Amino acid sequence: MYNRKTSNYQQEINKKKLKDNGFFTLSDDFLKKEKDLIFLTINRLNIHKIITDKEMINNNKGAGNYVVDLLNSNYLSLNEKNEIKNLIFQNKKLIEEISNTLGFKCLPISINLMINHFNKESVEFEGPKQWHRDNSAAAGQVKIFFLLNQIQSQSGGHFYYLPLTAIGSHKKFVIKNDYDSQKKLWNRFRYKDHELKTYLDLNKHTQIYPSNDNDRADILVINTNDCYHKGGYIKKEGYYRLLLHIVFDPALAFTDQRGNYFLKRIFTYVKNTFREKIFLD
Ligand SMILES: [Fe+2]
Repeated sequence: MYNRKTSNYQQEINKKKLKDNGFFTLSDDFLKKEKDLIFLTINRLNIHKIITDKEMINNNKGAGNYVVDLLNSNYLSLNEKNEIKNLIFQNKKLIEEISNTLGFKCLPISINLMINHFNKESVEFEGPKQWHRDNSAAAGQVKIFFLLNQIQSQSGGHFYYLPLTAIGSHKKFVIKNDYDSQKKLWNRFRYKDHELKTYLDLNKHTQIYPSNDNDRADILVINTNDCYHKGGYIKKEGYYRLLLHIVFDPALAFTDQRGNYFLKRIFTYVKNTFREKIFLD
């Protein structure tokens, strides 16, 4: 592809981190304007009311019972949503930084502003709150996670991930009933802590975002198609997590978000087939 050069030492370090570990972090300065605009915009919203109103009418299945995407909701006007999205789509500094670090031109292609909230019906180990990989691109895609509010160990909502040094992209976890079509897709190829513990020492390898309780979190840039990850479980009533989520794709891409979806299916299928299986049971 374009073979971009890193333009400074930090990008060089981050490039190596992405290759060796599957992630790196950036200063929150890269999304400062966006963060300010988001707070200016959502200032008028009563987030606690949005959450409690939702509980009243809630018969959502799956992630719908603990997540609201403000950019995909009626809580913001079309204009407000577009202002936020456009500011991100036009953030040259961030696009340059990611492109130079990855080594090829890439672009933000999907943006979500997620509220993860407590729901007594929602359990910790279900769906994407269990260890999994995304399957949305065969190569080149990274996702950005930027926490906008403060969460603490008592509230939960943290994002957990494993570096590629703990489990490389050429290996995959499986349990026998993953191949059973009776098992719900929502839980297939997704594992609980105790299942992974048979293969690796989670205490030793698990990375946590944010890594501390400061009110300013860094930006996490991670290859979620190769790094196992889980998260977003709010464990205490009255708490929520506000997270900006941006997907970056190579300018020439076959992913869930863009390009030829059929080719994406073939590429990810081939990649997955060649992965060495690690049976957890
Ligand atoms: Fe995921």
